[in-house]
Amino acid sequence: MQNITTTLKKLFYLWRRSQVPIKQPTRISKIDNLIIFLISILISIFSSYKILLISPLNISDIFSWLLTFTEAFISSWILILVSKKENPTISSRQIILLVTLLLAVQASKLALASTISPLSMIIPPALIISQGMGSITALTWVSIASLSWPDPAVAINENLFFILLVCASVVSLLGGRIRSRAQLLQLSIFVPIGSFVTQWILIGKDKISLIDNQEFAFANGDIFSNSLLLAIVMLFTILFMPIFESIFGLLTKARLLELADKEKPLIRRLSLEAPGTFEHTLLICGLAEEATRMIGGDIDLIKTGALYHDVGKLHAPNWFIENQDGSKNPHDELDDPIKSAEVLQAHVDEGLKFARKNRLPKPIANFIPEHQGTLKMGYFFQKAKEKNLDINEYYFRYKGPIPQSKETAILMLADGCEAALRAMNINASDKEALETITNIIFSRQKDGQLDDSNLSKGEIFLIKKAFLNVWKRIRHRRIQYPTSKNNTFS
Ligand SMILES: [Fe+2]
Ligand SMILES: [Fe+2]
Repeated sequence: MQNITTTLKKLFYLWRRSQVPIKQPTRISKIDNLIIFLISILISIFSSYKILLISPLNISDIFSWLLTFTEAFISSWILILVSKKENPTISSRQIILLVTLLLAVQASKLALASTISPLSMIIPPALIISQGMGSITALTWVSIASLSWPDPAVAINENLFFILLVCASVVSLLGGRIRSRAQLLQLSIFVPIGSFVTQWILIGKDKISLIDNQEFAFANGDIFSNSLLLAIVMLFTILFMPIFESIFGLLTKARLLELADKEKPLIRRLSLEAPGTFEHTLLICGLAEEATRMIGGDIDLIKTGALYHDVGKLHAPNWFIENQDGSKNPHDELDDPIKSAEVLQAHVDEGLKFARKNRLPKPIANFIPEHQGTLKMGYFFQKAKEKNLDINEYYFRYKGPIPQSKETAILMLADGCEAALRAMNINASDKEALETITNIIFSRQKDGQLDDSNLSKGEIFLIKKAFLNVWKRIRHRRIQYPTSKNNTFS
């Protein structure tokens, strides 16, 4: 009996761990839910109403209309579920974009199916979705958009359907990984060329040698113009991508890398006005990047998030120890632990204001409050106790929330370990460094800060190893090389 209970407990634990995220799925307002519902109904109407136009209408037609209508409606909701599963923090605006693109493609099939190739209708939206919401969502969207044809009279060539699926899948898979606008441009050139060649091989009626380009173009005029149109629509999609990013809050890899540019005005300000914080940020980037690589997380996201995590310190740089440079500590002059705690909390609140002003995407802004979680400001709490102030611990804790993703949790751990590792003696052994890292991570864990992050024990072990590796690198950098007259410049 005990064995069964243990097995059940284990199964329940494994089931819970497999559910990502455990908490905090995006809340969608009633209005947004209504909009999404109405768009889904429109998609279903667009996809099925032509069946009702057959005359005379009999029961089997009505039944087949009902079936198509339900099928389109369920497909829309499956698409939304997949997108939520792939992006737990997906916003309602992004879901609206997803279903609107499906609606647009169904409408364009009704209006343009006989004149425009389905490739030009389905591939460009797949590019937007894969870039902004991930490959799995894009693949699901492509399957629904390719399979559901509102006009039963339009028969697609089997080979064309196959080419469409292959090209759209390639775009969906690569689109999710592409890291620069230049690679996107390459994709928008190579996919139309690929589709042109495969269409010519599989569909082309008059197969004339490719060497005689002009004759070939005339003979396969349709295929050529369709591929050209696909290239043009893809290029326009890339051109308008920044607008999509800004309106729908899409976080593409290209946008992440642009935000990680250290010449961005906010980061430049940080390096000039709070050089200590900037140095601390760079070190944390190194720690967090290494740890994220170890556990297979999103490296671009954490690198950018780490860069902006403490921008709030710009509101009062000299109130933070790393920027004091031996000068007076304003906290000593203030001599009020509660006010000092408020200054610390302000670096989170002001950081969020900076994020709003600079239109930072939400996943990046989330690093600002979550890297502090609800941690206790131990130093000032201790000071308050020394002064015999009858004060609740609550006033000496950050407002949170605690890290909601693996990436923000890693940043919190890196933030905690950075100062300790930097302060460590150059001659400290690996064992001592690992002990320091373990103690810091354990204290965060014990405090419940990692409860919502979904980090497993194995991943925490890997994070410790990654931090140790970075510490070894730092130590190596600090070792002074002996110089002599002969090797000064080598
Ligand atoms: Fe901070
Ligand atoms: Fe920090």
